[in-house]
Amino acid sequence: MPQIRGPLTYQTGFGNELESEAEAGVLPHGRNSPQQPARGLVSELISGTTFTAPRALNRRTYVFRAMPSVVHGRYQPTEVKTFDTPPFTQPPNPNQMRWDPLGIPAAEQDFLDGMFTICGNGSPDAQSGTALHVYRATVPMTDRFFLDADGELLVMPDTGTLLIATELGRLQVAPGELALIPRGIKFRVELPEGPSRGFVCENYGLPFRLPELGLIGSNGLANAVDFHVPDAWYEIEEKPCTLVQKFCGSFWEARLDHSPLDVVAWRGNHVPAKFNMYDFVALGTATVDHPDPSIFCALSSPSDPVLGGNADFMVLPPRWAVAEDTFRPPGFHRNCVAEYLGIITGKHEGKSASGLRPGGASLHNNWAAHGPDVETFELARSVELPPRKIEDSLVFMIESRQPLQVADAALSAPEFQRDYQDHWQGFVRRFPGTNA
Ligand code: FE2
Repeated sequence: MPQIRGPLTYQTGFGNELESEAEAGVLPHGRNSPQQPARGLVSELISGTTFTAPRALNRRTYVFRAMPSVVHGRYQPTEVKTFDTPPFTQPPNPNQMRWDPLGIPAAEQDFLDGMFTICGNGSPDAQSGTALHVYRATVPMTDRFFLDADGELLVMPDTGTLLIATELGRLQVAPGELALIPRGIKFRVELPEGPSRGFVCENYGLPFRLPELGLIGSNGLANAVDFHVPDAWYEIEEKPCTLVQKFCGSFWEARLDHSPLDVVAWRGNHVPAKFNMYDFVALGTATVDHPDPSIFCALSSPSDPVLGGNADFMVLPPRWAVAEDTFRPPGFHRNCVAEYLGIITGKHEGKSASGLRPGGASLHNNWAAHGPDVETFELARSVELPPRKIEDSLVFMIESRQPLQVADAALSAPEFQRDYQDHWQGFVRRFPGTNA
């Protein structure tokens, strides 16, 4: 049953200062801590970066809410069974790895219980690294809310729509869109169209930002104006509910006697946002060859300019392929960074359609050799090369400088493709050379 109440409205921009009020006249003008905020609200600061972070990178939001966040019961340990945090028990694996789309179970599980960790690196304690999860939600979160103190969440449904009700407003996120939920923001996930499955990147490092454009200039890739930030929205409900917090890889649960989504107005830039990945302005070669995938970078959590990002997020949308006398799919390569790739819809141009389906994902760790499977290679080396549209395909990739460890459950899952390497068998050596 649809649970959307009232119209959803958004502002636009990425990282810029915004303000919003669900009741007219509630935001104090020119100040954030009046002695008595309007209508009996309380002022509360949520900082997403250290106070003295450079101005352009500083993230913080003042919220004006009915009850301060400190009013909650004592946190008690709890567990969310398949929502895991690195380091895991298995060492990083140099094999090429791939998963079929995880099945959506019949059992009732909400967004939180439906989280299933695939791989990760670093640790939230060190505020470095990332984890990749798949969620499979069959029921909405009702009387519980979630706060991830470990990382910012990048959420991408491939099946079903999410209504994410956050402290700062509500986002409706359909397949093809992504939601960014900043670290430390409370939210609830509802399912207006029934069960939903999708990908989650949990970023323990620096918050995602738009990448520099360098010689590209001032336009292209993910444009700031195409990010949508929800307007303030609140609910005043006195009812028993729980707040689950993920903190340093452990889960804690506190009782509340009211909904924590009681922010009536806010101003700042530590805010959730959504982005339609079909709005990504893809650039590419107009002559020959294959640009590096960095040309598809939509968001970046930087780490080291030489060794790689903490997490660089790429969008590969429908686009034209026009390169002449060129092997057009991604060729054979071995990269210094780890690559996790997921299919939202359609197929990846470098793989046969049967190998990697929507909801499926692959992992090629640092320096793992990979590239087109034999079927794709044989076709692409001899096919005619008129300008061709890569249609009906939406793919994302996350690159990370540190090797990604695979969680035990993901290695033993029935969806783990144990025959992935077979797709490169039967490769024909055409070079006839003999030893001199
Ligand atoms: Fe690759």
